[in-house]
Amino acid sequence: MSTEFEKVVETVAFLKSKIGDFKVDIGIVLGTGLNKLVDKIDVSFSFEYEEIPNFAVSTVEFHKGELIFGTISGKNVIVMQGRFHHYEGYNMKQVVFPIRVMKFLGIQHLFISNAAGGIDANFALSDLMVITDHINLMSENPLTGLHEPAFGDRWPDLYEAYDKSLVVKSEKIAKDIGLVLRKGVYASVNGPNLETPAEYKFLNIIGANAVGMSTVPEVIAAAQLKIPVFAVSVITDLCFEGALQPVSIEKIIDAASKAEPKMIALFSKMIAELENN
Ligand code: HPA
Repeated sequence: MSTEFEKVVETVAFLKSKIGDFKVDIGIVLGTGLNKLVDKIDVSFSFEYEEIPNFAVSTVEFHKGELIFGTISGKNVIVMQGRFHHYEGYNMKQVVFPIRVMKFLGIQHLFISNAAGGIDANFALSDLMVITDHINLMSENPLTGLHEPAFGDRWPDLYEAYDKSLVVKSEKIAKDIGLVLRKGVYASVNGPNLETPAEYKFLNIIGANAVGMSTVPEVIAAAQLKIPVFAVSVITDLCFEGALQPVSIEKIIDAASKAEPKMIALFSKMIAELENN
């Protein structure tokens, strides 16, 4: 059986054979209802996940499964249009596999977006929240099992899992373009069910500002690989007393879509201002 690293090497070789000397600077993972960033990208290559050796296939119908190589704000990017969620039945190694592939294709930064429930009572629907830290409540960890030194440390440090300089940069940009930008702690849960009122209250008590079903596995893998991460949640439902209501996935997608122009403005300005290494 191949190690994860051997699989990564195989996948990277496949992609390089297709993209030639196209060099990538930044990896981007697009979350639920946040696909339109792709319209701003000058696309050079795109691959359906099915075509890519060792990639899992995204099963959630509104997550498109495509890996896109192109240019935005003068930088070369790889975009995951559709991510793999643990609740779809993938194990955590499958969930983080694309992050490892992006690292070995040469990315210097990783940008992540997701849809999340707002725990913080100051939040409004379709707000953007820059993630400054996380609380991992998922039942599996992508780094469990055989330690593969090619990916980094056995016990990676998560002191700065979310790059502080990128958070500062995003605050400056938000000010410049008149964007309300929240900051906070993201709690990750397995899903796929949303939470009970008691669980939302618990999440508030333990210090979460938002809750969702993704991102944390990718951030853990990125921390081990020493890739600086910038991650943003779109608040798609309000989960605090007084605001909490039954919610449907359609409402969540609608709230995410409404935030798309803000997310696109923020991501493209952030990318424009990154230094090339
Ligand atoms: N809980 C968990 N995940 C979510 C939520 C939520 O309320 N909203 C969007 N993703």
